[in-house]
Amino acid sequence: MDSIKGRVAFVTGGASGIGLGITHALLGAGAQVVIADLRADHLEAALAALAQRGQAGNVHGIRLDVTDRAAMAAAAEEAERLFGRVHILVNNAGVGIQGPLKGITYEDWDFGLAVNLGGVINGLQTFLPRIRAHGEGGHIVNTSSLSALVPMPAQFAVYTAAKAAVIAISENIRGELAQEHIGVTVLCPGPVRTNIHEVGRNRPERFGAGAAFKAVQEGAVPVPFPAQMEPDQVGELVLDAIRRDQLYVITHGEWRAAAEQRHAAQVAAMPTKLDPALVSWLQSRPAAAAKKD
Ligand SMILES: NC(=O)c1ccc[n+]([C@@H]2O[C@H](COP(=O)([O-])OP(=O)(O)OC[C@H]3O[C@@H](n4cnc5c(N)ncnc54)[C@H](O)[C@@H]3O)[C@@H](O)[C@H]2O)c1
Repeated sequence: MDSIKGRVAFVTGGASGIGLGITHALLGAGAQVVIADLRADHLEAALAALAQRGQAGNVHGIRLDVTDRAAMAAAAEEAERLFGRVHILVNNAGVGIQGPLKGITYEDWDFGLAVNLGGVINGLQTFLPRIRAHGEGGHIVNTSSLSALVPMPAQFAVYTAAKAAVIAISENIRGELAQEHIGVTVLCPGPVRTNIHEVGRNRPERFGAGAAFKAVQEGAVPVPFPAQMEPDQVGELVLDAIRRDQLYVITHGEWRAAAEQRHAAQVAAMPTKLDPALVSWLQSRPAAAAKKD
Protein backbone atom coordinates (compact mmCIF):
# COMPACT_ATOMS: atom_id res chain seq x y z
CA MET A 1 0.00 0.00 0.00
CA ASP A 2 1.90 3.07 -1.27
CA SER A 3 0.02 5.80 0.49
CA ILE A 4 -1.21 5.64 4.07
CA LYS A 5 -2.45 9.22 4.15
CA GLY A 6 -6.24 9.39 4.30
CA ARG A 7 -6.61 5.64 4.88
CA VAL A 8 -8.58 4.26 7.81
CA ALA A 9 -7.12 1.64 10.14
CA PHE A 10 -8.75 -0.57 12.76
CA VAL A 11 -6.28 -1.74 15.41
CA THR A 12 -7.33 -4.33 17.99
CA GLY A 13 -5.55 -4.12 21.31
CA GLY A 14 -4.69 -0.64 20.05
CA ALA A 15 -4.77 1.11 23.43
CA SER A 16 -1.55 -0.34 24.86
CA GLY A 17 1.89 -1.62 23.97
CA ILE A 18 2.52 -2.73 20.41
CA GLY A 19 -0.99 -1.82 19.21
CA LEU A 20 -0.49 1.71 20.48
CA GLY A 21 2.96 1.83 18.85
CA ILE A 22 1.38 0.82 15.53
CA THR A 23 -1.33 3.43 16.07
CA HIS A 24 1.32 6.14 16.59
CA ALA A 25 3.06 5.15 13.36
CA LEU A 26 -0.17 5.05 11.33
CA LEU A 27 -1.33 8.42 12.67
CA GLY A 28 2.11 9.86 11.93
CA ALA A 29 1.70 8.69 8.32
CA GLY A 30 -1.66 10.45 8.01
CA ALA A 31 -4.14 7.63 8.64
CA GLN A 32 -7.23 7.81 10.80
CA VAL A 33 -7.24 5.05 13.39
CA VAL A 34 -9.88 3.24 15.40
CA ILE A 35 -8.37 1.65 18.49
CA ALA A 36 -10.49 -1.24 19.73
CA ASP A 37 -9.58 -2.59 23.13
CA LEU A 38 -10.98 -4.66 25.95
CA ARG A 39 -9.69 -2.42 28.72
CA ALA A 40 -11.49 0.85 29.54
CA ASP A 41 -8.46 2.11 31.52
CA HIS A 42 -6.13 1.50 28.56
CA LEU A 43 -8.54 3.25 26.19
CA GLU A 44 -8.95 6.23 28.47
CA ALA A 45 -5.19 6.67 28.96
CA ALA A 46 -4.37 6.15 25.27
CA LEU A 47 -7.05 8.57 24.02
CA ALA A 48 -5.93 11.25 26.51
CA ALA A 49 -2.28 10.85 25.44
CA LEU A 50 -3.22 10.91 21.75
CA ALA A 51 -5.28 14.08 22.31
CA GLN A 52 -2.19 15.67 23.87
CA ARG A 53 -0.28 14.81 20.70
CA GLY A 54 -2.95 16.74 18.75
CA GLN A 55 -4.49 13.59 17.27
CA ALA A 56 -7.95 13.70 18.90
CA GLY A 57 -9.70 14.23 15.56
CA ASN A 58 -7.97 11.31 13.84
CA VAL A 59 -8.52 8.62 16.41
CA HIS A 60 -11.56 6.93 17.89
CA GLY A 61 -11.72 4.41 20.72
CA ILE A 62 -14.12 1.47 20.92
CA ARG A 63 -14.41 -0.92 23.84
CA LEU A 64 -14.27 -4.35 22.25
CA ASP A 65 -13.61 -7.93 23.23
CA VAL A 66 -12.23 -9.53 20.04
CA THR A 67 -13.76 -12.87 21.01
CA ASP A 68 -17.25 -11.33 20.67
CA ARG A 69 -18.22 -11.61 17.00
CA ALA A 70 -21.40 -9.53 17.20
CA ALA A 71 -19.52 -6.76 18.99
CA MET A 72 -16.78 -6.91 16.34
CA ALA A 73 -19.39 -6.41 13.59
CA ALA A 74 -20.90 -3.49 15.52
CA ALA A 75 -17.42 -1.98 15.96
CA ALA A 76 -16.79 -2.25 12.20
CA GLU A 77 -20.07 -0.39 11.55
CA GLU A 78 -19.10 2.28 14.07
CA ALA A 79 -15.67 2.71 12.48
CA GLU A 80 -17.20 3.10 8.99
CA ARG A 81 -19.87 5.51 10.24
CA LEU A 82 -17.24 7.74 11.77
CA PHE A 83 -14.25 7.57 9.42
CA GLY A 84 -15.59 5.81 6.28
CA ARG A 85 -14.11 2.76 4.55
CA VAL A 86 -11.58 0.74 6.52
CA HIS A 87 -8.42 -0.19 4.56
CA ILE A 88 -6.00 -1.44 7.20
CA LEU A 89 -6.89 -4.11 9.76
CA VAL A 90 -4.39 -4.79 12.53
CA ASN A 91 -5.34 -7.98 14.39
CA ASN A 92 -3.09 -7.35 17.34
CA ALA A 93 -5.02 -7.95 20.58
CA GLY A 94 -3.41 -10.75 22.55
CA VAL A 95 -2.86 -12.17 26.00
CA GLY A 96 0.44 -13.57 27.26
CA ILE A 97 -1.02 -16.70 28.78
CA GLN A 98 1.67 -18.99 30.17
CA GLY A 99 2.23 -21.55 32.87
CA PRO A 100 3.23 -25.14 33.46
CA LEU A 101 1.37 -27.55 31.17
CA LYS A 102 0.62 -29.69 34.20
CA GLY A 103 -1.78 -27.10 35.67
CA ILE A 104 -3.42 -25.92 32.45
CA THR A 105 -7.20 -26.38 32.22
CA TYR A 106 -9.61 -26.53 29.29
CA GLU A 107 -10.63 -22.98 30.22
CA ASP A 108 -7.01 -21.85 29.81
CA TRP A 109 -6.90 -23.38 26.34
CA ASP A 110 -10.26 -21.82 25.45
CA PHE A 111 -9.20 -18.38 26.69
CA GLY A 112 -5.74 -18.36 25.07
CA LEU A 113 -6.98 -19.67 21.73
CA ALA A 114 -10.14 -17.50 21.71
CA VAL A 115 -8.19 -14.25 22.04
CA ASN A 116 -4.85 -14.99 20.36
CA LEU A 117 -6.21 -17.03 17.44
CA GLY A 118 -9.99 -16.47 17.51
CA GLY A 119 -9.50 -12.70 17.64
CA VAL A 120 -7.52 -12.83 14.39
CA ILE A 121 -10.11 -15.07 12.73
CA ASN A 122 -12.96 -12.79 13.86
CA GLY A 123 -11.11 -9.75 12.52
CA LEU A 124 -10.62 -11.39 9.12
CA GLN A 125 -14.20 -12.63 8.90
CA THR A 126 -15.60 -9.23 9.91
CA PHE A 127 -13.43 -6.89 7.88
CA LEU A 128 -12.36 -8.76 4.73
CA PRO A 129 -15.85 -8.65 3.13
CA ARG A 130 -15.96 -4.92 3.84
CA ILE A 131 -12.50 -4.29 2.36
CA ARG A 132 -13.37 -6.40 -0.69
CA ALA A 133 -16.67 -4.55 -1.09
CA HIS A 134 -15.11 -1.09 -1.36
CA GLY A 135 -12.51 -2.42 -3.82
CA GLU A 136 -9.87 0.17 -2.94
CA GLY A 137 -7.42 -2.44 -1.66
CA GLY A 138 -6.13 -2.80 1.83
CA HIS A 139 -3.71 -4.42 4.18
CA ILE A 140 -3.98 -6.95 7.00
CA VAL A 141 -1.46 -7.12 9.84
CA ASN A 142 -1.68 -10.12 12.17
CA THR A 143 0.36 -10.11 15.36
CA SER A 144 2.02 -13.44 16.10
CA SER A 145 5.21 -13.87 18.13
CA LEU A 146 8.85 -14.81 17.72
CA SER A 147 8.08 -17.57 20.22
CA ALA A 148 6.11 -19.35 17.49
CA LEU A 149 9.23 -19.46 15.28
CA VAL A 150 11.95 -20.41 17.73
CA PRO A 151 11.88 -22.22 21.07
CA MET A 152 11.78 -19.79 24.00
CA PRO A 153 12.59 -20.68 27.59
CA ALA A 154 8.92 -20.22 28.55
CA GLN A 155 5.87 -22.36 29.29
CA PHE A 156 3.95 -21.19 26.28
CA ALA A 157 1.99 -24.24 24.99
CA VAL A 158 -1.34 -22.41 24.67
CA TYR A 159 0.24 -19.15 23.52
CA THR A 160 2.46 -20.64 20.84
CA ALA A 161 -0.33 -22.90 19.55
CA ALA A 162 -2.32 -19.78 18.72
CA LYS A 163 0.64 -17.74 17.48
CA ALA A 164 1.91 -20.50 15.17
CA ALA A 165 -1.58 -20.71 13.66
CA VAL A 166 -1.54 -16.94 13.09
CA ILE A 167 1.67 -17.28 11.05
CA ALA A 168 0.19 -20.19 9.08
CA ILE A 169 -3.02 -18.29 8.31
CA SER A 170 -1.08 -15.20 7.22
CA GLU A 171 1.17 -17.18 4.87
CA ASN A 172 -1.77 -19.08 3.50
CA ILE A 173 -4.09 -16.16 2.70
CA ARG A 174 -1.39 -13.91 1.27
CA GLY A 175 -1.47 -15.29 -2.29
CA GLU A 176 -5.26 -15.23 -2.55
CA LEU A 177 -5.63 -11.73 -1.10
CA ALA A 178 -2.84 -10.34 -3.31
CA GLN A 179 -5.19 -10.88 -6.26
CA GLU A 180 -7.68 -8.58 -4.52
CA HIS A 181 -5.01 -5.93 -3.79
CA ILE A 182 -5.04 -6.72 -0.10
CA GLY A 183 -1.60 -7.17 1.41
CA VAL A 184 -0.78 -9.37 4.40
CA THR A 185 1.89 -8.92 7.06
CA VAL A 186 2.56 -11.14 10.04
CA LEU A 187 4.33 -9.46 12.92
CA CYS A 188 6.56 -11.67 15.08
CA PRO A 189 7.84 -9.56 17.96
CA GLY A 190 10.60 -10.59 20.31
CA PRO A 191 10.72 -8.91 23.71
CA VAL A 192 8.89 -5.57 23.67
CA ARG A 193 8.23 -3.28 26.67
CA THR A 194 4.42 -3.52 27.08
CA ASN A 195 1.70 -4.53 29.56
CA ILE A 196 1.56 -8.13 28.25
CA HIS A 197 2.20 -9.45 31.79
CA GLU A 198 -1.25 -8.14 32.89
CA VAL A 199 -2.91 -11.23 31.41
CA GLY A 200 -4.91 -11.85 34.60
CA ARG A 201 -6.69 -8.51 34.17
CA ASN A 202 -7.60 -9.30 30.57
CA ARG A 203 -9.41 -12.57 31.20
CA PRO A 204 -13.19 -12.35 30.95
CA GLU A 205 -15.15 -14.21 33.69
CA ARG A 206 -16.61 -16.68 31.21
CA PHE A 207 -13.11 -18.12 30.67
CA GLY A 208 -12.85 -18.90 34.37
CA ALA A 209 -10.70 -16.10 35.74
CA GLY A 210 -10.55 -18.00 39.00
CA ALA A 211 -8.10 -19.72 41.28
CA ALA A 212 -6.97 -22.41 38.84
CA PHE A 213 -5.93 -19.80 36.27
CA LYS A 214 -4.19 -17.66 38.88
CA ALA A 215 -2.22 -20.71 40.03
CA VAL A 216 -1.09 -21.39 36.46
CA GLN A 217 -0.03 -17.79 35.90
CA GLU A 218 1.73 -17.59 39.25
CA GLY A 219 3.58 -20.81 38.46
CA ALA A 220 4.74 -19.35 35.16
CA VAL A 221 8.43 -18.64 34.88
CA PRO A 222 8.87 -15.17 33.35
CA VAL A 223 11.57 -15.01 30.71
CA PRO A 224 14.37 -12.82 32.16
CA PHE A 225 15.00 -10.73 29.04
CA PRO A 226 17.80 -8.23 29.75
CA ALA A 227 16.49 -5.80 27.11
CA GLN A 228 13.17 -4.94 25.50
CA MET A 229 12.32 -3.03 22.35
CA GLU A 230 10.04 0.01 22.58
CA PRO A 231 6.54 -0.36 21.05
CA ASP A 232 6.97 2.73 18.85
CA GLN A 233 9.98 1.08 17.16
CA VAL A 234 7.77 -1.91 16.36
CA GLY A 235 5.10 0.46 15.03
CA GLU A 236 7.56 1.98 12.55
CA LEU A 237 8.64 -1.49 11.35
CA VAL A 238 4.99 -2.41 10.76
CA LEU A 239 4.28 0.83 8.91
CA ASP A 240 7.24 0.15 6.62
CA ALA A 241 5.99 -3.41 6.01
CA ILE A 242 2.52 -2.14 5.07
CA ARG A 243 4.05 0.33 2.63
CA ARG A 244 6.27 -2.33 1.05
CA ASP A 245 3.74 -5.18 1.35
CA GLN A 246 6.23 -7.28 3.26
CA LEU A 247 5.03 -10.63 4.64
CA TYR A 248 7.21 -10.96 7.73
CA VAL A 249 8.15 -8.42 10.36
CA ILE A 250 10.53 -10.09 12.79
CA THR A 251 11.72 -7.52 15.28
CA HIS A 252 14.83 -9.26 16.62
CA GLY A 253 17.85 -10.79 14.88
CA GLU A 254 19.28 -12.23 18.08
CA TRP A 255 17.38 -15.48 17.50
CA ARG A 256 18.70 -15.99 13.94
CA ALA A 257 20.90 -18.94 14.96
CA ALA A 258 17.97 -20.58 16.76
CA ALA A 259 15.77 -20.11 13.68
CA GLU A 260 18.48 -21.59 11.45
CA GLN A 261 18.89 -24.56 13.78
CA ARG A 262 15.16 -25.28 13.79
CA HIS A 263 14.94 -25.00 10.02
CA ALA A 264 18.05 -27.18 9.54
CA ALA A 265 16.61 -29.83 11.86
CA GLN A 266 13.36 -29.90 9.89
CA VAL A 267 15.18 -30.14 6.56
CA ALA A 268 17.45 -32.86 7.99
CA ALA A 269 14.33 -34.85 8.96
CA MET A 270 13.17 -34.97 5.33
CA PRO A 271 13.96 -38.18 3.40
CA THR A 272 16.46 -37.87 0.55
CA LYS A 273 14.82 -40.67 -1.46
CA LEU A 274 12.22 -38.86 -3.56
CA ASP A 275 9.23 -39.93 -5.65
CA PRO A 276 9.94 -38.68 -9.22
CA ALA A 277 6.22 -38.16 -9.92
CA LEU A 278 5.91 -35.75 -7.00
CA VAL A 279 9.17 -34.02 -7.91
CA SER A 280 8.09 -33.30 -11.49
CA TRP A 281 4.61 -32.24 -10.36
CA LEU A 282 6.18 -29.74 -7.96
CA GLN A 283 8.58 -28.51 -10.61
CA SER A 284 5.63 -27.78 -12.91
CA ARG A 285 4.15 -25.47 -10.29
CA PRO A 286 6.93 -22.95 -9.54
CA ALA A 287 4.51 -20.03 -9.14
CA ALA A 288 2.57 -21.80 -6.40
CA ALA A 289 5.76 -22.74 -4.58
CA ALA A 290 7.06 -19.15 -4.72
CA LYS A 291 3.82 -17.50 -3.61
CA LYS A 292 4.72 -17.45 0.04
CA ASP A 293 7.13 -14.52 -0.43
N1 LIG B 1 5.32 -7.68 24.41
C1 LIG B 1 5.96 -8.65 23.84
O1 LIG B 1 7.12 -8.90 24.17
C2 LIG B 1 5.30 -9.47 22.77
C3 LIG B 1 6.08 -10.43 22.12
C4 LIG B 1 5.48 -11.20 21.13
C5 LIG B 1 4.17 -10.99 20.77
N2 LIG B 1 3.42 -10.05 21.42
C6 LIG B 1 2.04 -9.86 21.00
O2 LIG B 1 1.79 -8.49 20.75
C7 LIG B 1 0.39 -8.23 20.85
C8 LIG B 1 0.18 -6.99 21.68
O3 LIG B 1 0.57 -7.25 23.02
P1 LIG B 1 1.41 -6.23 23.90
O4 LIG B 1 2.69 -6.87 24.21
O5 LIG B 1 1.39 -4.89 23.27
O6 LIG B 1 0.57 -6.27 25.27
P2 LIG B 1 -0.38 -5.20 25.96
O7 LIG B 1 -1.06 -5.95 27.05
O8 LIG B 1 0.40 -3.99 26.32
O9 LIG B 1 -1.43 -4.82 24.83
C9 LIG B 1 -2.44 -5.71 24.45
C10 LIG B 1 -3.77 -4.96 24.41
O10 LIG B 1 -4.76 -5.89 24.01
C11 LIG B 1 -5.91 -5.70 24.82
N3 LIG B 1 -6.70 -6.93 24.87
C12 LIG B 1 -6.47 -8.05 25.60
N4 LIG B 1 -7.45 -8.93 25.41
C13 LIG B 1 -8.31 -8.37 24.52
C14 LIG B 1 -9.53 -8.77 23.93
N5 LIG B 1 -10.09 -9.97 24.23
N6 LIG B 1 -10.15 -7.94 23.07
C15 LIG B 1 -9.61 -6.72 22.78
N7 LIG B 1 -8.49 -6.27 23.33
C16 LIG B 1 -7.84 -7.07 24.18
C17 LIG B 1 -5.37 -5.30 26.18
O11 LIG B 1 -6.34 -4.58 26.93
C18 LIG B 1 -4.18 -4.43 25.79
O12 LIG B 1 -4.54 -3.07 25.71
C19 LIG B 1 -0.21 -9.49 21.46
O13 LIG B 1 -0.85 -10.22 20.44
C20 LIG B 1 0.98 -10.23 22.02
O14 LIG B 1 0.75 -11.60 22.09
C21 LIG B 1 3.96 -9.29 22.42
